[in-house]
Amino acid sequence: MKKNIAVIFGDGIGPEVTQQSINVLNAVAKNFSHEFNYSYNLMGAIAIDKTGNPLPDETIEACLNSDAVLFGAIGDPKYDNDPAATVRPEQGLLKLRQRLQLYANIRPVATYASLQHLSPLKAKNSEGTDFVIYRELTGGIYFGKKELSADKTQAIDECVYTEQEIERVAHLAFQHAARRRKKLTLVDKANVLETSRLWRKVVQELAQQYHDVTVDYMFVDNAAMQIIMNPKQFDVILTENMFGDIISDEASVIAGSLGLLPSASVGNSAALFEPIHGSYPQAAGKDIANPLGSILSAAMMLDYFKLNAEADLVREAVDWTLKHNFVTKDIDPVNFYLTTTIGELIVEYVSNKVPGDIHQSNVELRKSTII
Ligand code: IPM
Ligand code: MG
Repeated sequence: MKKNIAVIFGDGIGPEVTQQSINVLNAVAKNFSHEFNYSYNLMGAIAIDKTGNPLPDETIEACLNSDAVLFGAIGDPKYDNDPAATVRPEQGLLKLRQRLQLYANIRPVATYASLQHLSPLKAKNSEGTDFVIYRELTGGIYFGKKELSADKTQAIDECVYTEQEIERVAHLAFQHAARRRKKLTLVDKANVLETSRLWRKVVQELAQQYHDVTVDYMFVDNAAMQIIMNPKQFDVILTENMFGDIISDEASVIAGSLGLLPSASVGNSAALFEPIHGSYPQAAGKDIANPLGSILSAAMMLDYFKLNAEADLVREAVDWTLKHNFVTKDIDPVNFYLTTTIGELIVEYVSNKVPGDIHQSNVELRKSTII
């Protein structure tokens, strides 16, 4: 299979983690006789520095002309701390989501036994957590009218949803629930918000087409509590843009490390894959960032290409590194491995050079590289 991938390294640790994903994709291509071609594009603070624009037109073009986008991270503290900045790195990502019509953001949340000790939740509550968040990504308050009064004492952010915007993401969430444990939870604030009442109506109507999926409804404040108290109750969560932003960060800590979680943002004709962590500027260039969030995002990209065996192999490689304590500093601050070493191990696993648990000596050999 031949695929063209638009790479956007972005800011902070974006370049170094994304490079590991490219190495892993290249190993997959070699092993399974695929051809992946890459174009390299600017977005974020780095794009502002180089061109004055967080999302240059050439980047939009390259993404529109590719089969998928592999993205690193966005953001730079020099903009976060300046509320008066009119150009911000994040504008690039929001505009790209809109231009590519990436209306569904998919964030799987699952726990790993070997990382349980890092979870802020008690083992009995978090073990076996396995759910997926479907966050609407191109509507709602993020993209509504924004106004600041002339005297700058009043501000407005409008939240607008149409039935059609709700339907298209809801269909994807229902379809995924039907392939999983067949439970969909709509998270909203229908006791207060008109938009939430529209979400409920549309989802209730769609539910008739998905007889085998059980639907329940939860107010977002309660959901925020339930995700911590009993995350195992969830299978597929469907929610609007802003609620999804908030609860997906909340859910991300259950696994024990933010560095591990991947995401996919899909539309009808484009898809973008990125780790859910931010640009982590303090770690940039130090070779200490966790590349697994990016590598698992690349695995989601392989699934999107319908290369499911290849995607499973990458996930198996990731599980193998975690099981053998080949982990980065965020997971073990004492005995840790570098970003590049973890990437190399996964490349080797994918290339069949690490034949699983049977060659314990191979594993021990690698352990001698402890820094
Ligand atoms: C995310 C991020 C973005 C968002 C920011 C960087 C604009 O938090 O992808 O969740 O709010 O959507
Ligand atoms: Mg967010």
